Amino acid sequence: MKFFIDTANLDQIAEAHDLGVLDGVTTNPSLMAKEGITGEKNILEHYVKICELVKAPVSAEVISTDFGGIVKEGERLAELHEHIVVKVPMIKEGVKALKYFHDKGISTNCTLVFSPGQALLAAKAGATYVSPFIGRIDDISSDGMDLIHKIRHIYDNYGYETQILAASVRHTMHIMDCAMAGADVMTGPLSSITGLLKHPLTDIGLEKFLDDYKKGNA
Ligand code: G3P
Repeated sequence: MKFFIDTANLDQIAEAHDLGVLDGVTTNPSLMAKEGITGEKNILEHYVKICELVKAPVSAEVISTDFGGIVKEGERLAELHEHIVVKVPMIKEGVKALKYFHDKGISTNCTLVFSPGQALLAAKAGATYVSPFIGRIDDISSDGMDLIHKIRHIYDNYGYETQILAASVRHTMHIMDCAMAGADVMTGPLSSITGLLKHPLTDIGLEKFLDDYKKGNA
């Protein structure tokens, strides 16, 4: 399973990259605003910085909601850097744009997906990635992971090549559940990735090994 980090914070992206397990980055307008990146020029420059840092797929989201606007914005984003993936919302005009970008050879990530039917549409339109938001489904007392299982089943039934990018991952167990469900990619915060490192028996065992070494070599 590929690991993407879901942030626009350069320090956190660099930390995950240095760990050697980072396969890409996802951003959205909320994450850019959280880092204080505002204004078209600054936002575009920031995308380039992230691309240069990770040299891997970086999802950059359009803010237009009409076909013409999505296409214009997406083509501009795609020209920024070879690693840009154009992130398009799951709306009617977005589906049309996914097909357009597919035919032009531009990589896409269909975002704000909350149902198997939406994921089926994204795959039929040729999206490179589809982003079901598991955390936000859990937030409303429903089962986000069930959506991943259903999309996996549908895509496998027909051999769709669209990659399931489990998004709105909030914590380490989400990552493990995504791996069990066969998601192709997960995107989450740095804490969800570093959480995988943790086990008390690892800490206790290491402490004992180091202690015994010291005693034996005193
Ligand atoms: O990748 C989508 C993600 O940014 C949404 O996450 O935590 O805002 O639901 P969250």
